[in-house]
Amino acid sequence: MSTPYWVAGRPVTSDDVVEVRSPHDGALAGTTSQATAADVERAVAAADAVAAEFALTPAHVRAAALDHVSRRLAERITEVAALISAESGKPVKWATVEVNRAIATFRWAAEEARRFSGELQRLDTEPASDGRLALVRRVSRGPVLGIAPFNFPLNLVAHKVAPALAVGAPIIVKPAPATPLISLLLGELLAETDLPEGSWSVLPVPNEVASELVADPRLPVVSFTGSGPVGFAILERVPRKHVTLELGGNAAVVVAPDWSDLDWAAERIATFSMYQAGQSCISVQRVFVHRDVYQRVADAVVENVRKLGLGEPSDPATDVGPLINEAAARRVETWVREAVDAGATLLTGGTRDGATVTPTVLADVPAGCKVVDEEVFGPVVVLDVVDSVEEAFGKVNSSRFGLQAGLFTHDVRLAFKASARLEVGGVIVGDVPSFRADQMPYGGVKESGIGREGVRSAMADLTEEKVLVLTGLEI
Ligand code: SIN
Repeated sequence: MSTPYWVAGRPVTSDDVVEVRSPHDGALAGTTSQATAADVERAVAAADAVAAEFALTPAHVRAAALDHVSRRLAERITEVAALISAESGKPVKWATVEVNRAIATFRWAAEEARRFSGELQRLDTEPASDGRLALVRRVSRGPVLGIAPFNFPLNLVAHKVAPALAVGAPIIVKPAPATPLISLLLGELLAETDLPEGSWSVLPVPNEVASELVADPRLPVVSFTGSGPVGFAILERVPRKHVTLELGGNAAVVVAPDWSDLDWAAERIATFSMYQAGQSCISVQRVFVHRDVYQRVADAVVENVRKLGLGEPSDPATDVGPLINEAAARRVETWVREAVDAGATLLTGGTRDGATVTPTVLADVPAGCKVVDEEVFGPVVVLDVVDSVEEAFGKVNSSRFGLQAGLFTHDVRLAFKASARLEVGGVIVGDVPSFRADQMPYGGVKESGIGREGVRSAMADLTEEKVLVLTGLEI
């Protein structure tokens, strides 16, 4: 049976059936259908119609709905993780991590919905404002178009849906074409709540229809996670809309000479350069290690990478699965070959079988190679030796991107220096750049994006300040 899509909270199917297949072995993960033009119009009209009423919904109604989704994801975690794995090829061990994160994302959004209150500002600082007080609150900017990527098909959808519902902003979700099923399952859970009709829809549509939605004036906010060229094209297309862009990166980590547990650093680097086959915007791509400890770290990274288990995504023992499709794997293979042809040393990996690329470690990569300059979005890590932390910081910053960076050090002054000097949205001290807690601000500078997600930051982003001035008060 075809999985329905969701129009203004109601299940619908069309004749335009889509089969969703695993990139691992082509097995059928499920079927759904593309939303028709009439259904897209119904969803947008309903979001527009309900916006004013939804913004006034009591916090307890929104919080209860968000808590409900969190609870139901927890109850169905095994099934949800299996579906993520089936449609995206993500190993079930990482899919389970993702579901746990989504459970937390919805729970945090419920908590923040209860807290989101605004602040008082006294105005009697000038004689002209005697007896006046301002109440500064944040109100919804209006319906949101959330365009989601395939690499975290549940939790990055949660990062659009949960904050929008928390602030009373209707949302239309456009899932990634490769991974619609998990968003549709999320729709099933939202349909169990008392959220008003029109406050949410999930529409699998081709990218051309998404482009029409981007331009629709009834959706004043566009929240996009995906590739840079598409993101910046959206921004140029609708400069007057409120656009949030979570784009790519070539995340770096620095290992300073004072770091004591080199084995742990190497294990973290190996794991988080290869998790989800490198398909995370903050997977470790560039590693800068001080010369004093370089050889030990390099040897241990290679040893740990070689231990990673490749194979069947549904097997709990599998660490690394396929990329999202064979074309992506071919691109990664070509980039690795380009680096090796230019003189890089291949320490391990570098082969491809269908959509799967073996975890690859490179060293001595000459400047200008794509595996350093571009976002690989594949299981590839590049090791580089540096003579000082300052040199490493310069190399971290010599990138078009700036999402997160990691720094292995025990020196708190160096940690502050990194935060001051590194051109990124976040610095993770004592770990890899891939660390993300879902409540913390998350986003990038330079070509990594505009705006911040993370539950509270996204709630701020989807709202604008509105001031209520009270007059004639004894304050
Ligand atoms: C991303 O790929 O940008 C999201 C990373 C994460 O949520 O861990």
